[in-house]
Amino acid sequence: MGLWTKKSIASLQQEATGDGDGHQLKRALGALNLTTLGIGAIIGAGIFVLTGTAAAQYAGPAIVYSFILAGLGCLFAGLCYAEFASMIPIAGSAYTYGYATLGEFIAWIIGWDLILEYLFGASTVAVGWSGYFTAFMEELGIQMPASLTNAPLAYTETAKFDAAGVLTQAEGFTSTGALINLPAMLLIGLMTTLLVIGIKESARFNNLIVILKVTIVFLVIGFGFMYVNQANWHPFIPPNTGEYGHYGWSGIVRGSAVVFFAYIGFDAVSTAAQEAKNPQKDMPIGILGSLAFCTVLYILMALVMTGLANYTELDVPHPVFVAIDKAGPGLAWLKPIVNIGAIAGLASVVLVMLMGQPRIFYSMARDGLLPPVFGKVHPKYRTPYVTTILTGAVAAVVAGLFPIGLLGELVSIGTLFAFIIVCAGIIMLRYKSPNIARPFRTPFVPLVPLLGIGICGYMMSSLPRATWERLIVWMIIGLAIYFLYGKRHSKLGRAEGTS
Ligand code: ALA
Repeated sequence: MGLWTKKSIASLQQEATGDGDGHQLKRALGALNLTTLGIGAIIGAGIFVLTGTAAAQYAGPAIVYSFILAGLGCLFAGLCYAEFASMIPIAGSAYTYGYATLGEFIAWIIGWDLILEYLFGASTVAVGWSGYFTAFMEELGIQMPASLTNAPLAYTETAKFDAAGVLTQAEGFTSTGALINLPAMLLIGLMTTLLVIGIKESARFNNLIVILKVTIVFLVIGFGFMYVNQANWHPFIPPNTGEYGHYGWSGIVRGSAVVFFAYIGFDAVSTAAQEAKNPQKDMPIGILGSLAFCTVLYILMALVMTGLANYTELDVPHPVFVAIDKAGPGLAWLKPIVNIGAIAGLASVVLVMLMGQPRIFYSMARDGLLPPVFGKVHPKYRTPYVTTILTGAVAAVVAGLFPIGLLGELVSIGTLFAFIIVCAGIIMLRYKSPNIARPFRTPFVPLVPLLGIGICGYMMSSLPRATWERLIVWMIIGLAIYFLYGKRHSKLGRAEGTS
């Protein structure tokens, strides 16, 4: 009993309207705020950092096609998210949707998995931010000690040998000699403080940064196009080197798994459902609007970057800056602006990620799956401050210790997994409860969710084995917590037991 218990949609909808116990979050966000929230979460380390690496190593100028492929996977998943978000407009994202459709056990799995997306996502982007920030400081003539700006741990995926067959680099974790990534930790501390103070204030701060970073992306695209050297686009799809994933079609596919990271965040809109003024109408607008907007920008941005610089030159920590640099003196004025945009832009991604996580914990605590203290709302600021601080503390430690590559892959696999479950949930709910009011309907069910599952699964399968192993270990820890705590304290389970 209990594992497959589902929450009724009616009770969820009632929860969304509040139960008068003084624990409601503040409804302050309209459609525009939700869309900017999404854009704030989406445009970040993916486009500003990873695009360059992926173009240089995997796809060449055809990274544009990688963006289209990853964008399609996100679009199909986003359409499913939009139906759920309009139907079950309460905080908790895919976790809540899972509870309504697939039962408590799967809901727990999704909730636990989402920690990878949000908490580890915040850490990942903070590490990217730290790299940009350190480089920017250097340009200003301020040299920061390498031991305080880098991860102390590095991870080697496969053991390396020299020509004589002697092991030069063992597989696994090694020490880099650095102590800690201090800027990444400080950024998380700052954003956490902002989030405790208030949702409205955070949204306002986020809006400002979104305007700034979108303006900068527009400037790069608009002015960049004027300086494109078309020779850089030839060949558009560099021929495969003979190794899987190195250019050619397989390079495009592997590139899409890497730049998938750039799209993560549109679903973060769904974690703010309980703070939306009119969630039924505004959630789909926020989710799909931010996703569509960023997809177009990404494709144009990828074209400009690979047109300004040869793709082989983009494998650097700040590829947008390098691309603009290639345009020569004509665009020199844009270079500092790009740096500032990246630094502010990545900070706002961290903000939204750190905002999403406590709201998922909040929902899980209200269901009894986590201790009640996780659901505590601040008496004055009306924010879930206990979980906000806890999330910030853990995310800061993770960001201080681990390298960006390892974190990014973990975030991608966790998020793709959640997307797949959301798509499957839409199909199930259409068959099981066809008559529930759906203010937004995913079109062409089951085709759209099936395509979402297919494309996201394909991208997931292209991630390395070690990443899969980490996902499995993470899930085993989650299962242990569920059976030792969550299942025993579940409010729904206990209600069933006594009825
Ligand atoms: N999409 C977010 C980024 O690119 C996570 O940083």
